[in-house]
Amino acid sequence: MIRIGFAYNQKPEESALIGTEAARAEKLTDGELSRPDEEPPSRDEFAEWDSKATIDAVAGALSGLGEVIRLEADEDFPERLRDIRPDIVFNIAEGRHGVNREAHVPAICEFYGIPYSGSDPLTLSLCLDKARTKETLAWHGIPTARFTVVREVSDIARALKALSLPLFVKPIHEGSSKGITERNFCRTRAELEARTASLLAAYNQPVIVEEYLPGAEFTCAVLGNGKTAEVLPIVGMNFASLPEGALPIYGYEAKWIWDRPENPLQMFDCPAHIDASLARAIERVTLDAYRVLGCRDWSRIDVRLNAAGEPNVVEVNPLPGILPDPADNSCFPKAARAAGMSYDELIQSCLRLAAARQRVPLSRQLRKARTAPKTATRPRSARLRELDGPAAKDSVSNRLSA
Ligand SMILES: Nc1ncnc2c1ncn2[C@@H]1O[C@H](COP(=O)(O)OP(=O)(O)OP(=O)(O)O)[C@@H](O)[C@H]1O
Ligand SMILES: [Mg+2]
Repeated sequence: MIRIGFAYNQKPEESALIGTEAARAEKLTDGELSRPDEEPPSRDEFAEWDSKATIDAVAGALSGLGEVIRLEADEDFPERLRDIRPDIVFNIAEGRHGVNREAHVPAICEFYGIPYSGSDPLTLSLCLDKARTKETLAWHGIPTARFTVVREVSDIARALKALSLPLFVKPIHEGSSKGITERNFCRTRAELEARTASLLAAYNQPVIVEEYLPGAEFTCAVLGNGKTAEVLPIVGMNFASLPEGALPIYGYEAKWIWDRPENPLQMFDCPAHIDASLARAIERVTLDAYRVLGCRDWSRIDVRLNAAGEPNVVEVNPLPGILPDPADNSCFPKAARAAGMSYDELIQSCLRLAAARQRVPLSRQLRKARTAPKTATRPRSARLRELDGPAAKDSVSNRLSA
């Protein structure tokens, strides 16, 4: 039986409350469309970390493949990893601090020569910098909204010369919609100055100023490597489910305030109801972005249409959110379900992809599956379930030839 180290960061229980129930209770008044005045970093400090329920669900799924050793990515992580030396690490750790936080666990695994799942430190750091990500995309000719980086309010004049209003501003190094509310949509110079100044002060990092993409939004879950990387059924954002008058974005309000357990937003449409040519165009930019950014095993890529209806990459998440409860509206598991994969199969597929890529043999039980016949008509989920079999060889050779 292989020994799987499971690296994660667990949300403190109290902060989970601050991020959701308490924040909602404080902000929501009877039926009114509540918008946060501000959501200081202290409120959403742990928004990216995983809940106990997610961590337990992932550990449960991994236990179908081997012995799971939980390795919380705290300050003792390097020492514990060195002592335990698992055969492979399944990594979902979002990291503790700094702009390279998501790269720390993979970098430590590399230091000790221990295989791990998912993208490498370079890709994780790159994708946590929205501007560097977009530079890479633009250099490769992959459509993404025009942008500039603002480090102080006086840079705004330069931004306005280069870009056309309306603009959308975001902290450069965050995720989970930290610092992204309706106020980030700026129609005028005054709005741009006010919101940029408040983000610079609150998040203590540069702000990326982008042209606003007015069209529909999608998010795409990708599984695989090299030529076998596939987009699972596309998830469409149903902005009609937002409260009346809301801006059509999937920001902090939609993720953390308006989507309530007693009144969940019907935010996602999966598979998205779009025509085949648009679906192909979205899949193409998604897989191109995945490839040029060096993503491995899995990632979730957000895409929005510009005024001409062309898909543009908004951002790339090499550590996708994976809430296990279908009621929690988590996009990657939702796309996997639409592809016929259970939550456990999704997690196990990711580990199998990582093991195949690094030639880590899985358990004896799974080795039997290698001899199973491969048919052209077998669904994707079945092929992924057998990734330590013939498909693994394809995957490895594609990776080597990529
Ligand atoms: N240029 C843009 N034009 C229009 N809307 C945008 C633009 N950039 C971001 N948005 C909106 O803001 C949302 C959040 O932005 P983004 O995905 O970059 O942030 P994030 O915090 O990294 O998200 P995630 O929760 O996926 O990690 C997007 O889903 C989209 O609705
Ligand atoms: Mg996003």
